[in-house]
Amino acid sequence: MVNKNDYEEVRKEIRRLITEIERHNYLYYVKNEPEISDAEFDILYDRLNKLESKYPLLVDTNSPTQRIGAEPVTEFETIHFAKPLLSLDKVQSYEDFLGFFNKLKRILGEGISINYTATPKLDGLSIGIRYENGRFVWAATRGDGYTGENVSLNVKTIKSIPMFLNLDEKQKIPVLEIRGEVIYHRDDFVKLNAKLESMGEKTFVNPRNAASGSLRQLDPKITASRPLKVYFYDITHVEDLEFTSHWEMLKFIEKVGLPLVPNAEFLENTIDVKNYFENTRTKRAQLPFEIDGVVIKVDSTELQTRLGEVSHHPRWAIAWKFQSEEVMTVLKDVFWNVSRTGAVTPVAILEPVFISGATISRATLHNEDEIERIGIKIGDKVIITRAGDVIPEVIKPIVNLRDGSEIKIVPPERCPVCNSKLSKSPDDVFRRCSNKKCPAIVTDSIKHFASKRAFNIEGLGEKQVEILLNENVIENVSDIFTLKSDKLSSLNRWGDKLAQKIIHNVEKSKHIHFSRFIYALGIFGVGDHLSDILADNFNSIKLLMNASFDELVNIKEIGPTTAQSIINFFNNESNMEIIERLIKLGVTIEYPEKRIIEESKLKNQTFVFTGGLSSLSREEAFNIVKSLGGQVSTSVSKNTNFVVVGENPGSKYEKAKKLGITILTEEEFLKLIGK
Ligand code: IVH
Repeated sequence: MVNKNDYEEVRKEIRRLITEIERHNYLYYVKNEPEISDAEFDILYDRLNKLESKYPLLVDTNSPTQRIGAEPVTEFETIHFAKPLLSLDKVQSYEDFLGFFNKLKRILGEGISINYTATPKLDGLSIGIRYENGRFVWAATRGDGYTGENVSLNVKTIKSIPMFLNLDEKQKIPVLEIRGEVIYHRDDFVKLNAKLESMGEKTFVNPRNAASGSLRQLDPKITASRPLKVYFYDITHVEDLEFTSHWEMLKFIEKVGLPLVPNAEFLENTIDVKNYFENTRTKRAQLPFEIDGVVIKVDSTELQTRLGEVSHHPRWAIAWKFQSEEVMTVLKDVFWNVSRTGAVTPVAILEPVFISGATISRATLHNEDEIERIGIKIGDKVIITRAGDVIPEVIKPIVNLRDGSEIKIVPPERCPVCNSKLSKSPDDVFRRCSNKKCPAIVTDSIKHFASKRAFNIEGLGEKQVEILLNENVIENVSDIFTLKSDKLSSLNRWGDKLAQKIIHNVEKSKHIHFSRFIYALGIFGVGDHLSDILADNFNSIKLLMNASFDELVNIKEIGPTTAQSIINFFNNESNMEIIERLIKLGVTIEYPEKRIIEESKLKNQTFVFTGGLSSLSREEAFNIVKSLGGQVSTSVSKNTNFVVVGENPGSKYEKAKKLGITILTEEEFLKLIGK
């Protein structure tokens, strides 16, 4: 048996070795300034390894020996972020940037001076990491911004990420959630593809996909073999610590040993911003990794708070993206696609061409007017780009390269899928198929419902939806929630594995954020952005269903056509039946926390709490009341406006009744604060 003192000594020695190894990892992987040779490092590592093998109870899950190659997992768990990882609004020119700047001025007042922090916009995969008391707890992909996939085992294999933050001895930081980008350096990417090719395996299209494919690996050993890099640029949530500026936050990131996004700069005005953008663009090709623009943030925390956020992005930051690359190819044909709204849209079939990191063989031509406007013909040599470096787009034909063999593009008179006659109203840019049962429309609606931005049911893609419809297993979206795995696995070419995966993912998707639910409904004219806006403006699906035309058009972004479309959607009985059935089948909608607009909702209202709350802690409840402008008191008096009564309430409950003060159950309180 080991003597207690010896055991304590071993524990200390293990701690010392871990700290020492982590420090050398930092010097090697973050600072690029190693102090010891690889051989000396190995000695430290082996010593730790030996001690841990001898004393398995002393193995820390965050020990350097635990970083490489954990066992494969079958799927990633879901992680909830303390604060959402928002996206960024974007501009593509200095003029647009000045538009952003003017908006800041409008909100903050003309006289205010605004400083910025600027960083390159890394083209990789966004992740969030949580540390508790300085210890790494988990890492997750950004997912939908609210929840992500737990990729901790994989992230642990990235040696530049500390498992222990380098905090001052007395500094206590109970929780810190930080956000960064996982990237693949260009030269590593070339090496990786050469290796994959030599092994006869599929190569990656670009470094971003290599980063994503390497991190979202069920087998951490594969991730461990890939030289991923991570850079951090934002602390999304921290307890017991405040920053007065973003620049201070970046310095803190650096200080605690986390790799900071390179080339960050503090800027004083819009001219500095312009120069920063130009300089970064010039340097772009020489950087070892890919970037697609710069990110400009208002530096002062106070101003950031005043500016606030909308559900998709903060108002205090903007991505200024580089103009997209342009290349030439040939328009081989035009395919007419029927979408879920019945719109028949032209798709360009192109001679495949490599552009902005991917091979493109299709691009939208938008509509007939656009074909007319750019004057394009089949057989033309055309210039294409990728809007925002993502969506392929045909810019124009090169008319003087024509040889006379080019053919005029003629839109179809009948639906290319169900052959019913297409109609076109004068104020619509599309011909439409109005057959509600058109297989293309039904398939596309269900596909939309299951898509990433909506219910995100992985495995339920176009092919699967088509089979389910053809086999009469489903008829509309609500049937998805009645699927049974034995029925699925009996379908032609579906194994048990796929069937179970889909059932599992269907189950997982049932808890859904409000804006995604709205988006999934596929209301005509309500896309990604308007779904966010509607979720911001209505506290529940019921309120949205009952919204009047006036209420809707009073929302800045919503015009009369969209307002009418929303009203029509909810007036349609079969749509309402589907929504009711979805809820009945267990779909629960997660409503966003109250937004800035509501900051003064509880102004001058005093709350007293008595008894235990089941869905949130006292402290959380206090904070919410305060964040909505209310006050919290510990005793009931005639100045109390509300008494919230939880389980086993005390004498405050009796007193409140006596004084005739409004008493709220926990549920009523949650409703009041919009939870
Ligand atoms: S800041 C609230 N800085 O770009 C703002 N984002 O298009 C937090 N990204 O998903 C983001 N490089 O993950 C910021 N230097 C940088 C970035 C960066 C890449 C990603 C980010 C986001 C996406 C938005």
